[in-house]
Amino acid sequence: MFLKRLECSACGLEHEWSQLQNLCVSCNKPLFAIVDLAAASRTLTRETLQAREKSLWRYREVLPLPAGVEPVSLGEGGTPLLRAPKFADDVDLWVKDESSNPTQSFKARGMSVAVSMAKYLGASKLAVPSAGNAGGALAAYAARAGMEAHVFMPRDTPRANVVECRELGAHVPLIDGLIADCGAEIGRRKAHEGWFDMSTLKEPYRVEGKKTLGYELAEQLNWRLPDLILYPAGGGTGLIGMWKAFDEMEALGWIGKKRPRMFAVQAAGCAPIVRAFEDGEKTAAEFPDAQTIASGLRVPKAIGDFLMLKILRESNGGAIAVADGEMIHVAREVGAKEGLFICPEGGACFAALKQLRVAGKIASGERVVIFNTGSGIKYLEAYDPGLRG
Ligand SMILES: Cc1ncc(COP(=O)(O)O)c(C=O)c1O
Ligand SMILES: [Zn+2]
Repeated sequence: MFLKRLECSACGLEHEWSQLQNLCVSCNKPLFAIVDLAAASRTLTRETLQAREKSLWRYREVLPLPAGVEPVSLGEGGTPLLRAPKFADDVDLWVKDESSNPTQSFKARGMSVAVSMAKYLGASKLAVPSAGNAGGALAAYAARAGMEAHVFMPRDTPRANVVECRELGAHVPLIDGLIADCGAEIGRRKAHEGWFDMSTLKEPYRVEGKKTLGYELAEQLNWRLPDLILYPAGGGTGLIGMWKAFDEMEALGWIGKKRPRMFAVQAAGCAPIVRAFEDGEKTAAEFPDAQTIASGLRVPKAIGDFLMLKILRESNGGAIAVADGEMIHVAREVGAKEGLFICPEGGACFAALKQLRVAGKIASGERVVIFNTGSGIKYLEAYDPGLRG
């Protein structure tokens, strides 16, 4: 293993990786894993990758977890990158389809790595606030690891997510409130209950799992990053993780300096990052009365807001809000034209692509990658209002 230390993403303070850590003990901001890339590159090369397993553990040297320790895995990662020519024929459009992950969303990536590390470092009870898919992923990986999972969800979380967690053996308290209220409840109880807090970016390894989105994308595009990435951002972990992966791959000599223009796509009813980006702010104020059917985007206040905003600006990208009706409408178009039953969060990105084309912000022929972060099958109430209770 080539993990050297944990470092605060805001103040740089070093933390020891060999014990369970949450936020920076000095400034309460997220910790990042720092990997010895020079040492990792002795065995991990673009060539050696070709013969490896398909799962995200193919990038083992740049992931935490000591060599010889078996990861908690259900076969996550290695998802298809598909062309979507019928949806947009004037740009070179690709979809990274994350719905084929275990538990049908990209949350599996973060949880496989974070649960592996939590188990290795001695945790036995894991807790997470979840707007939907993260809960299912934690429940699955905790079950696989023989650990307890406590998934706190807003009461109006899509039914499939709640049922999934229960069937995977998790404890699933439903909270009258939003994801922040779920997080606060865990914060109040965790010391007493002996829970380890697995909230995204409040522990250092979910982002490590998510960074494999960036490694896979580069590998699948033959080490040439696209011109533009559209990512549905709630907590922003995937966006932040991919950016970290790009820097690591540059240090490994696998890619050059060029970066995609990164766009965070949010729901009009919960768009704190869009608002902060437009106002030129470095952090994002809590978005009041957050509401959207895209449950993964219902994150009114994200702890990684400052990291996301920096990436969007440095990459010359932006932030776009999409109305719920538009997400659903466009998702149907994608389904009928491309054969993908996407989640509303993915639909938001396809709608954002249309907005950017109309605004003249994408030149014809540019290569665009959209992240469809999960399957539509978990959102039946959103696609068929008759099913809403
Ligand atoms: C389907 C889906 N897309 C996107 C997101 C947002 O992910 P992130 O926290 O990486 O911004 C979530 C989070 O719950 C999700 O479930
Ligand atoms: Zn700090």
